[in-house]
Amino acid sequence: MTGAAARLLVRDAAQVASPAGAAAPLRGRELGRVDVLADAYVLCEGGRIAAVGRMRDLGRLPGDVVELDARGQCVLPGLVDCHTHPAWGGDRVEEFALRAGGAGYEALHADGGGILATVRATRALGAAGLRARVERHAGWMLSHGTTTWEGKSGYGLDRDTELESLRAIRAAGGVPTWLGAHAVPPEHDDGDAYLDAVLAEVLPDAAAIAESADVFLERGAFDAEQARRYLTACAGRGLALRLHGDQFTEAGAIPLAIEVGARSVDHLEVTGPDGVAQLAASDVTGVLLPASALFLDRPMPPARALVAAGAAIALATDFNPGSAFCESLPLVLSLACTKLRLDPAEALSAVTVNAAHVLGRAERIGRVATGYQADLVLLGAPDWRYIAYHLGTDGVQTVVRGGLILHRR
Ligand code: NIG
Ligand code: FE
Repeated sequence: MTGAAARLLVRDAAQVASPAGAAAPLRGRELGRVDVLADAYVLCEGGRIAAVGRMRDLGRLPGDVVELDARGQCVLPGLVDCHTHPAWGGDRVEEFALRAGGAGYEALHADGGGILATVRATRALGAAGLRARVERHAGWMLSHGTTTWEGKSGYGLDRDTELESLRAIRAAGGVPTWLGAHAVPPEHDDGDAYLDAVLAEVLPDAAAIAESADVFLERGAFDAEQARRYLTACAGRGLALRLHGDQFTEAGAIPLAIEVGARSVDHLEVTGPDGVAQLAASDVTGVLLPASALFLDRPMPPARALVAAGAAIALATDFNPGSAFCESLPLVLSLACTKLRLDPAEALSAVTVNAAHVLGRAERIGRVATGYQADLVLLGAPDWRYIAYHLGTDGVQTVVRGGLILHRR
């Protein structure tokens, strides 16, 4: 059942859990402060949270109210996936099997496979096909509790397919990011010539659809000088900035992110102590993608060192066909606790408030608190920490966005 309600009362929840306070991003000790109300309710009105409290304090509500029985369930903020690549065709299952047999991810890319294989399949989809794929991926995310998601282009790498990818992401309810600098497509000889072309021909229109721009700063993709040129041009058109960096090599992503005032630098699997210290002293959020590190059997990012140093961190899936075919933020929360050694409360803040901050939305989403958008996950468990504890089975029963029940198991 889905349905609109002017007023929705989520009642009799075993727990309502929400990152404490109102600040964003949360750092250090603040990251792990989660308020838990037992035997509680959440009242939603006009798409927002009107009240949160204990059942014993709930008075009579005059007028029409749709009631959602949350007995035996916990209420959490809708999850925020601040890093996904949902606009693609084909799949990479052959590559997955080859990698299982020992083939290297970077070597496959250098041979014209990897990202470029997905570029060929994405260009072949056509606008309607691309929209259908993004819609399908958005549905998968919603069923795992994701109520807000960022989606990157980057598998078109030509004008029409990049713009169509951004439109498809927006049409499916995502927050579009132009990843025009993901790889150098085969029709261009080198990265500089490719950037000349896309900055002249795609950026003006991409900037009208996207909120942010992103670049893959890595050997075999774009170097720091090229990334600076791309990001500076994008900032000039009003786009917020993101970077993929420190995935395989430390090639200057953190200093560049700080220099250009990026919102985030994402991956950080190979970030060393200097990078940790630089990031911690900055306003740039480090977005950690443990599902990607697991999927590629790569080292995990230094999450504990980042939190201890005072860096702002967020968590995301990196959903894509090659390095992280995973749309489940609950699984990412499990990995955050088991592999990154984050406490469940730190992990929850990283995938709600701090992820919302990366998307410039922390005043509106990421908490179960009065005035925030009524985006809720109902978890079929007696303790909210089951969202990370129950490995591979997320227990998401009901997803509410803007006060509407959008998904029910
Ligand atoms: O974030 N690292 C670059 N881009 C994606 C993967 C792209 C792919 O393999 O298709 C990522 O991991
Ligand atoms: Fe990515």
